[in-house]
Amino acid sequence: QKVELSIDEIDKNGYEHYMLKEIHEQPHSIGDTFRGRISIDKTKIFLGGIIDVMPKLTQAKRIIIIACGTSWHAGLVGEYLFEEYARIPVEVEYASEFRYRNPIITPDDVIIAISQSGETADTLAAIKMAKKQGATIIGICNVVGSSIPRETHAGVYTHAGIEIGVASTKAFTSQVTVLTMMAFMIGRKRGTLYDELYKKLIHELTLVPEKIDIILKSENYIKGIAEMYKDATNALYLGRGCLFPVALEGALKLKEISYIHAEGYPAAEMKHGPIALIDQNMPVCVIATKDKSYEKIVSNIQEVKARNGIVIAIVTKGDETINNLANHVIEVPDCHESIAPLLTVIPLQIMSYYIALMRGCNVDQPRNLAKSVTVE
Ligand code: G6P
Repeated sequence: QKVELSIDEIDKNGYEHYMLKEIHEQPHSIGDTFRGRISIDKTKIFLGGIIDVMPKLTQAKRIIIIACGTSWHAGLVGEYLFEEYARIPVEVEYASEFRYRNPIITPDDVIIAISQSGETADTLAAIKMAKKQGATIIGICNVVGSSIPRETHAGVYTHAGIEIGVASTKAFTSQVTVLTMMAFMIGRKRGTLYDELYKKLIHELTLVPEKIDIILKSENYIKGIAEMYKDATNALYLGRGCLFPVALEGALKLKEISYIHAEGYPAAEMKHGPIALIDQNMPVCVIATKDKSYEKIVSNIQEVKARNGIVIAIVTKGDETINNLANHVIEVPDCHESIAPLLTVIPLQIMSYYIALMRGCNVDQPRNLAKSVTVE
């Protein structure tokens, strides 16, 4: 039987929307991000684009990460990883705030600008300003030859491939992959990450594509959860440590495309405000994979349940404790905690996609939003 596809359908590779296609591309796009940058025996990371600035990076007194939107969330994951493995103090700034604040910048600072498009006006202006003040500027961008990479001293392209959906998915996971590689590589060079752990972490990173493939198999199950909560008017996302930025990103994905009000919070901050919102109509997504704050996040889930909240938990496969507490659990494969942001964001992307779809929203081009914000 002859099947005729329009250009649009061919571009979407058979998927209904670019966003869904891009979600499904992540095992490949992440593979493309680390391809040629991790040695075949998985014992070394080599980021050619920043080799010339490695002495600056390893001796930096401080790293300032500048970005907007989803890229800013990737930067927050980077902060945890750089501080944990490279032991360099990190600040993560919204470009729009940083550029107008008269910030203190010295030639010992390294600025990392993260931008999918490489064209975001605020990010571009912020790095131009920091460059004038003598800082070393590194870019993490997706679009090759865009404006930001042209302004930087060095950089790493994410190689996620073209991203069309306004809500960023595969660009985010590729940015996090680059930051993860940088943190491990700098940590190893500085001697703050010992060789055995370095190799274990590299190995863990290379397993991410196949683990995401496993998560993608839960798509229908996640769609079922989306169906149950598509009419919610508010949602809360909670996480701790490097999963707090994933909570922010989960909330952003939902509000961007479904127009449901959603907030991301560090789980322990819930008691300073959002707990007042919890009732039987409020879905609370808790990112609760097994890591050093696991026991604490279990208590946070109990706090939500005690107030009749609905808990949708993203958990490590086989987690019986949370399975007995939460209304729904979405399992992800076991992984080292530094890798968890890359896995746990996937179910949140899928859930947002289906909720938006079921609400009849324009998933790929949400109202009032642009893919690339080249004006102030
Ligand atoms: C817009 C897009 C977001 C993106 C942000 C930053 O708001 O809709 O998806 O995260 O800009 O864009 P950049 O290209 O700098 O990553």
